[in-house]
Amino acid sequence: MKLVGLSGNLAGWKTNVVVHKVLTAAKAVDKDIKTELVDLRDYEVEFVNGSPLAYYNDDTWDVVNKITSADLLVIGTPIYQASISGALKNVLDHLPVDALKGKVTGMVATAGSHNHFLVPEYQLKPILSYLKGIVPATSVYIQDDAFDDVNEIVDENVSERIQKFAEELVSLQKSISEKK
Ligand SMILES: Cc1cc2nc3c(=O)[nH]c(=O)nc-3n(C[C@H](O)[C@H](O)[C@H](O)COP(=O)(O)O)c2cc1C
Repeated sequence: MKLVGLSGNLAGWKTNVVVHKVLTAAKAVDKDIKTELVDLRDYEVEFVNGSPLAYYNDDTWDVVNKITSADLLVIGTPIYQASISGALKNVLDHLPVDALKGKVTGMVATAGSHNHFLVPEYQLKPILSYLKGIVPATSVYIQDDAFDDVNEIVDENVSERIQKFAEELVSLQKSISEKK
């Protein structure tokens, strides 16, 4: 089983840290799970311009292929202007409509405040569902005050939430795979 974590951010590190923690927690649940962290700052993903995927650069292909070949996914975004990041939305715009079919697709968001805690539910989930992803009932929303100055998570409740979230992701994907 391959779990891909996407850090949908080109700026800070908190989203990357949380997605990485989810991958590590999932591996602790099942050591046979292969994990990969795709951090968008490592790729020159081109803006969607209406061309077929074949016309975009290798990095764009690479990111799309890593997503479509995963068995399950964790999609991470910082909250920007009461929404998901533009970098993440651009990647999602590249995906074919059944890109996430049969894949459990968990949501992780980092934010400066609690004001936008429904953004993943109301803005990211509809996109993932449109792409036929199976979105778990729980997601992880983490505020900046859960991190210290070097972006380590210092809030134990948050670490517990990440652990439970990873357990749910893995068990949901296994139950789906067993029914296939
Ligand atoms: C351009 C920009 C817009 C932001 N907009 C919001 C916002 O609307 N609501 C919020 O709670 N936090 C907002 N933030 C704070 C970030 O979501 C928060 O600091 C997040 O943890 C950053 O994640 P990162 O370290 O992965 O970049 C914004 C930050 C930036 C840079």
